[in-house]
Amino acid sequence: MRNLCVIGAGYVGLTTGACFADLGNRVTLLDIDEPRIQSLRAGQMPIYEPGLEELVRRNVKFDRLTFTTDYAEALADAEFVFIAVNTPSRADGGADLRYLQSAAASIARHLTHPLIIINKSTVPVGAGDLVADIIAQHKRNGATVSVVSNPEFLREGSAIADFLNPDRVVFGSRDPEAAQRVAQLYLPLRARIMITDLRTAELIKYASNAFLATKISFINEIAAICEKLGADVKEVAEGMGLDKRIGRAMLDAGLGYGGSCFPKDVKALEHMAAAAGCHPQLLRAVMEINQDQRWQIIRKLKDVLGDLRGKSIGLLGLAFKPNTDDMREAASVDIAQMLQAEGARVKGYDPVSMAVAAKAMPEMLLCEDPYELAERCDAVIVVTEWNEFKQLDLERLKRSMKKPVLVDGRNIYDPEKMDELGFIYLGTGRGYPMDDITSILSVHPEPVEGSQRGSRLHRHQPLGRAHAVQGHADLWQGRD
Ligand SMILES: NC(=O)c1ccc[n+]([C@@H]2O[C@H](COP(=O)([O-])OP(=O)(O)OC[C@H]3O[C@@H](n4cnc5c(N)ncnc54)[C@H](O)[C@@H]3O)[C@@H](O)[C@H]2O)c1
Repeated sequence: MRNLCVIGAGYVGLTTGACFADLGNRVTLLDIDEPRIQSLRAGQMPIYEPGLEELVRRNVKFDRLTFTTDYAEALADAEFVFIAVNTPSRADGGADLRYLQSAAASIARHLTHPLIIINKSTVPVGAGDLVADIIAQHKRNGATVSVVSNPEFLREGSAIADFLNPDRVVFGSRDPEAAQRVAQLYLPLRARIMITDLRTAELIKYASNAFLATKISFINEIAAICEKLGADVKEVAEGMGLDKRIGRAMLDAGLGYGGSCFPKDVKALEHMAAAAGCHPQLLRAVMEINQDQRWQIIRKLKDVLGDLRGKSIGLLGLAFKPNTDDMREAASVDIAQMLQAEGARVKGYDPVSMAVAAKAMPEMLLCEDPYELAERCDAVIVVTEWNEFKQLDLERLKRSMKKPVLVDGRNIYDPEKMDELGFIYLGTGRGYPMDDITSILSVHPEPVEGSQRGSRLHRHQPLGRAHAVQGHADLWQGRD
């Protein structure tokens, strides 16, 4: 049994603390947010994360997990101190390190014995050295400190499983012995361990998130091409993903990435690259495409409904992804703001993030369930792909809508089925085939006489739903 302190009781800190306690360590979780610590002491989770409540309760019961706001108490017996504070974006895109700096200064002021400090927060290259400098500057005795970078790769919604079954665990330090000692804490997980230098470990985290975000923007660019050329991006992604060099993960076209990590981490990597004199053009394109995905939804709605002023639009799902209540940088927030700017009335429903949504989007009307949401709506947009939305009574949903327009921002429904049900269904990368492909192919539209090659260049057969979209748009222009 080791004595650990985890600073920051958020998604990462709470998961890290509870999991290390479950592995048999004694963990003190520290946060400066007094109400958060009080609710944890009362057995209430400040965040929604599947399985977390049970894990916390079990380890509190066996005295392996305690909560405090007091640095002196938290550090008294600690050998290892994990920093898991938030590192949000600054206005210029760089990572805001004020919480990290404050945590490091507090550790230094309460340092009584040698410690290993582990940076679990996602921090720019050089932040490990910054922590070491802050400690040296503020410490009041000769106690030695080593700093280890141990970036976290867990995903909200499956945080516990990810923490306990990681693809790899990365450590980087100027003190290889300290990195080895931290790695030993993870031995029960039997995970693949990688020890690097400090800065390399810090960069592995940013490079990983930026690559995953790139996959999402890539497939979204392909989706835009699919829409123009009449291909189905879901099948394109399947076909690509079967290639082991590519893999199927993160190839879901839709509204783009959100949440507390990808947006800020891509921005921060772009910022640190530019500051170092690089030209991070790919990262810039990734961000631009992601932002464009939100605009595309407004464009599609206008194609079908015309002017959005006074129209009632329902957002099905508000969290940035399923199985979390986190709404940081959620697509729902951007889309709601864009719709409101167009003069539309916006309603929302989410299975778990309603309390968070009430704070984040006070002007939005929140509904009890998807059917109440759909009532008198001119269009419903699927924003988050919660499983429960995949099994809705779509006929009931449609009956209560003013117009049967469903924009599937996550491609959870089958376009043919939606057509059959009478919806005007607008998926992402599957709904707008063009009927004249010859101009794109730059060939003569007529097959060359006697040649077999010409037959492949016949006009693409437009899908029925493309006509349906146009047909209904014509029908509705000028009437409410
Ligand atoms: N959320 C994720 O899925 C995820 C995944 C991997 C890595 N990360 C990274 O982990 C870090 C934490 O992310 P999060 O989502 O858990 O953040 P969070 O906002 O959920 O939690 C951070 C907590 O730190 C506390 N805090 C801030 N300053 C403090 C201080 N000086 N002393 C004590 N507590 C302090 C806050 O009160 C808050 O409770 C970030 O750098 C993030 O990029 C997050």
